[in-house]
Amino acid sequence: MFSKVRSKIRHLRSGPSRGLSLAFRLTTWYSVTAFLLVSATTGLLYFGVAASLRRLSEQLLADELDVCRALVRERSGDAHALREEAEIDSAIRKYEKFYVRVLDESGKPLATTPGMDQELSSSHIAREEARYPGGIFWLKSPGGTPYRALVARVPLDPWGTQVWTLQVAVDLTQEQEVLARHRVWVWAVLAAGAIFCPWVGFVIARRGTAPLRDVAETARHIGSSTLSERIRAEGRPTEIADLVDTFNAMLQRLEESFVRLSQFSADIAHELRTPVNNIRGEAEVALARARSADEYRDVLGSCLEEAVRLSEVIESLLFLARSESPGDHLKRMPEDIGALLADVRDYYEAAAAEAGVALTVSGGGGVTGDVDRGLLQRAIGNLVSNALAHTQAGGSIAMNAREEAGRIRIEIADTGAGISAEALPRVFDRFYRADPARPRKSGGAGLGLAIVRQIVLLHGGEVQVASQVGRGTTVSVVLPKEARNVQA
Ligand SMILES: Nc1ncnc2c1ncn2[C@@H]1O[C@H](COP(=O)(O)OP(=O)(O)OP(=O)(O)O)[C@@H](O)[C@H]1O
Ligand SMILES: [Mg+2]
Repeated sequence: MFSKVRSKIRHLRSGPSRGLSLAFRLTTWYSVTAFLLVSATTGLLYFGVAASLRRLSEQLLADELDVCRALVRERSGDAHALREEAEIDSAIRKYEKFYVRVLDESGKPLATTPGMDQELSSSHIAREEARYPGGIFWLKSPGGTPYRALVARVPLDPWGTQVWTLQVAVDLTQEQEVLARHRVWVWAVLAAGAIFCPWVGFVIARRGTAPLRDVAETARHIGSSTLSERIRAEGRPTEIADLVDTFNAMLQRLEESFVRLSQFSADIAHELRTPVNNIRGEAEVALARARSADEYRDVLGSCLEEAVRLSEVIESLLFLARSESPGDHLKRMPEDIGALLADVRDYYEAAAAEAGVALTVSGGGGVTGDVDRGLLQRAIGNLVSNALAHTQAGGSIAMNAREEAGRIRIEIADTGAGISAEALPRVFDRFYRADPARPRKSGGAGLGLAIVRQIVLLHGGEVQVASQVGRGTTVSVVLPKEARNVQA
């Protein structure tokens, strides 16, 4: 029996570290509250009935005393009327049976309700009265019958020379029986409450949490291959519908990330396949027959070129992967941005001269900021390299740095081919190339701007691009001046 209960409780707890189940909590709260309410109501009803019965019997005592007192005062000589009241009126009552005894000043009974002497002798009443003088008191006959009694002294004249005593008692057997019957009902209601409250509570809690279980069941079936599935929100209670909407929105984001990730993996495979195939093809051709030393050198040179390309792509991918994982990748120091731009210009000067493009730096004097010099140099280098790749001879590339409202703005503007409006929103995507037809040798892997964006995000900044086809492109990098340790 106990092991059954224990296993039920274990079922209601959904694991040692998870705490009690919602249904169990709701059931407990409901049962305890409902049971307390039932107990309070039945208790109040019982005590209300007891108080009413008591008030009735006390009223009866007081009324009877008033009648007797009036008789004694006004018609003390009329022994017949007194006897009639005490011996006949009270004796004929079946329910709420009461007894009256009239004693003269010497304590001699003048009138007594028949049967009173066997139940309550005058000395017994006098003894009990001495314990509660002047008030209504409770006493038991020698046979065990309960009574409520009252004693009053009535002076026959204004000077009080003659004082009679009135003893009135009411039989409480009926009252006790009514209360005993009520008590049986009270216990029956409490017992029923103790069984039904938890049961009803459990049924309500199970019904209330049914949509939750339903949602959990649906969610359990969603896997990586069924990420496009959604949980139905219609017809569900508002709270659950909110939860479902939130969950569906999360699924949507997950699905998008998953698609992006799959695309990214496919792109990586594609990007790596081409140079590896090239190396393989050239090696196979070279090994097909005997070659001269020069031919081997050419093949090896070409293979080396492809290998360099391959390691560059791998390095870029590794950089992106690392920068996305949590942790502080930045070594931020106060740097002179003007000097940094000048270094980049020096690096690309020869290539620019060869391409017939003017590469200039303006502003930047005295502009300093907390940046990771190596990373920012890499980002600016990527932008200049892009500008060089898309600017015809005779064009120009202008680098500019300035400070505005506590931020640093670095602009790389070229007079090159520009980017079409359709391509513009996608240029920061990994492996995206606006002109895929461009020969691979001259074009890159499409990771340059993704790296720029990642570096800028790591600095807590943003990157914008504005371009007009045929007129040129301006990429702006805006960085906070102070280190804020923002992760991408
Ligand atoms: N200054 C620019 N002018 C015109 N087009 C540009 C410019 N900068 C970038 N683009 C376009 O955006 C695409 C993405 O640039 P990104 O730097 O990410 O890749 P990539 O230069 O092709 O390759 P990688 O930088 O990896 O060697 C480029 O292929 C190019 O079409
Ligand atoms: Mg590039």
